[in-house]
This record gives sequence, C-alpha cells and structure tokens, in this order.
Amino acid sequence: MDTQKIKKDFPIFSRRVKGKQIVYFDNAATSQKPKQVIDAIVDYYTNHNANIYRGAHTLSDESGNMYEKARKDIASFINATKNELVFVKNSTEALNLVMNSWGMENIKKGDKIVVSKMEHHANLIPWQVLCKIKKAKLEYMNFNEEGLIPESEYDKIKGAKFVGLVHVSNVLGTVNPVKKFCALAKKEGAISLIDSSQGVPHLPVDVRDIGCDFLAFTGHKMLGPMGIGGLYMKKEIGKNLNPFLYGGGMIESVDFYDSIWAETPKRFEAGTPDVAGVVGLQEAVKYLKKVGLKKIMNHENKLIEHTLQKFEKINKIKLYGPLKNRSGVISFTFDGWNVRDLADKLNKKCIAVRAGTHCAQPLHRHLGIGGTCRASYYMYNSIEEIDKMIQILRGL
Ligand code: ALA
Repeated sequence: MDTQKIKKDFPIFSRRVKGKQIVYFDNAATSQKPKQVIDAIVDYYTNHNANIYRGAHTLSDESGNMYEKARKDIASFINATKNELVFVKNSTEALNLVMNSWGMENIKKGDKIVVSKMEHHANLIPWQVLCKIKKAKLEYMNFNEEGLIPESEYDKIKGAKFVGLVHVSNVLGTVNPVKKFCALAKKEGAISLIDSSQGVPHLPVDVRDIGCDFLAFTGHKMLGPMGIGGLYMKKEIGKNLNPFLYGGGMIESVDFYDSIWAETPKRFEAGTPDVAGVVGLQEAVKYLKKVGLKKIMNHENKLIEHTLQKFEKINKIKLYGPLKNRSGVISFTFDGWNVRDLADKLNKKCIAVRAGTHCAQPLHRHLGIGGTCRASYYMYNSIEEIDKMIQILRGL
C-alpha cells in the first residue's frame, strides 16, 4: 500500500502541528476524510441542496434521487438491498432504534438477552435499560485472557430471544466469529444483531454471509462524515417493525386519531434526513471500493504484525487482545505510566492516540484496569509512523 500516495488524498495530512505532520492513530474513534468525500459534500450544498420527497421542483428531485442512489450503493457495499438499509446518525442511534422498535415490542418478562463483556456502551446500555423495563434477563458472554470469547460461553445463547455482539472490539481488536454466533442464535430462534462499527470500515462485510438480522455501522469511522450511519434490517424483519421516531417523511397517511406508516426504510427516517452526509458516505464507500477492503485488511495486518513484534521487546508494555486474527486496534498499558500521561507524551510528538476506557467501562472492569492507551490504524498509516511511536515508548 502506497501510504504516501493515499495521504495526498487527505487534506488533514497537509497540516503541520509544530512543523510536523500528524501521526494519526485514533482511527477507532474517527477516521480522517479524503478530499473526494469533502468535495462531494461541498458539491451537494453548492449545486443540489433542497429538501427531499417534499418539493415539486428540480433541486428537490435531484436531491431525492441522489439520496436514494446513495442508499443503493451503500447497501450493496454490505450486500444488502436498498430497502434493507435505514439511514441513522451513527451506530448508537441504530442500536437504540433496534432496542426501541424491535425490543420494546418483542421482549417480555423473563426473556433472555445475551451480549458480550467486550461491548461498546452503545450495545450494552440499551439492553440494560430494556431488561429493567421488561424485567428480562441480561446475560454476558465472558472473554478470556487472550481477548477471545471461549466456546464454553456460547452455551449462554441457549434459550435466548436476542443476541447482540460486537463484530470487532474497539479495545481488544478481537474479530469475533459473528457468522457462528448468528447461526447459533438462529438455531435458538433468537434475533441477532451485529455492531460492526469497527468492522465495516476495515474488512469486507457481507450481511447475507454473516446471517444476521440487524447490523449497525457508522460513516465517520469509514472515511465518511460524522452524523451519518446505517442500520441493516433483514427484509422480513424490517417490513413488520414499528417506527422509533414519528413525524414527517415516515408516514403513508395521517388522520386525526390514527396514522399509517410508510414502508421500510422510510418508516424509520422521520424528519429531514442528512442528505449531504449520505452523499458523503456514498463517496467514502466509492473510495473504500477503489482501494479495496482486502488490500486495506492486508495492509493493516502488516502494521499489526510489526507493532506486536516491537512490543514484545519492550518489557514494560502490556498488550490487551489477541495476538492473531485481530484488527488494528492496539490497546496497551505501560508500567509506571498513567495512560493519559502516556497519550500526552505521544501527543507532544504529534502522535494522536486515545487513552481511557474507550466507551467500554465494563470491558476494562473485567480486565481489572482503569484504562488503556489505544493506537488504532487505518489504510494511510505506515510502518515508519509506528516506529516513531515505538521509539518514544522505548525511551520511557
Ligand atoms: N467508539 C469510539 C471509540 O472507540 C468513539 O473511540
């Protein structure tokens, strides 16, 4: 992967802080944006801006067509059909939508919901709240020292009504065998949901192959703008589900005491949508396809391998998460250093990492630590950049 060439597409890398180019290792929090995405958003507002579905004029038609064409392209990126993709503002909203629409209607007293201990808060709190409201049971699949969910934990899926699992952990980098989990859920007659916030940006995702009922992803971690994301809803489930938000755009007809909902996905998109965001995300998908997800994955694997080799030689570093089959999310602690001071030390040398609990407090509690320092990679990161970080860590 020619990371120098790729970096040229990303205006942020032309910026200098204290005379230096930023080494951006905070991609699990949000990715940088190529100029193609930024230009598409500017073009939308410059040349096409109008509200969709409502106007009887050229701009509105254009805007509506752009929105629906983008839906088709983004859906096909995860092998879904356009009517199976609901636009939301991010994965958090997608997961809350499932909790409110599917969960409130289908979960009853005593039902079992299963998630894992490596969930991001967004795929944990909604189920905690739902279980409290419905007096349902919430069970957690544990992960072991390697950061993997052992097969013995799979038994917890037995008798479950709903199984929610993170595709790729935003702390441990674990790539979960989601296909297997969805098959187990299906065997139990349970609904399955995959939080693929850290999956869709980094590896090829095919919802049909995974066999899930719902899959959430967010645009800003995959080169797209902040404020736009997607929720895949399997056709058979989406068509009978009640809406989460009510208002304009999501109805077929409205009377004084009753209303009829529009078909899915419009049913779940109340109010004026983020058309520019959708157009930006479509461009991001185009960019990802051009570079190629397999190529991105292979490149990130090289970066991981290099990091792990170097980490092995620094005794004071403790790495969390598996050594193999993992994603480029590298969380660690360093003896004698508070993780925030560590991040600050790196930041002083223009290396951007995240420190803390990364919206996964129960995960850190399970590990028995107060936080980690996290370097997370993407297609534009290089071995040279990793070596800069290693050099600083070695000098501590
Ligand atoms: N979920 C994002 C992260 O892991 C914000 O940093």
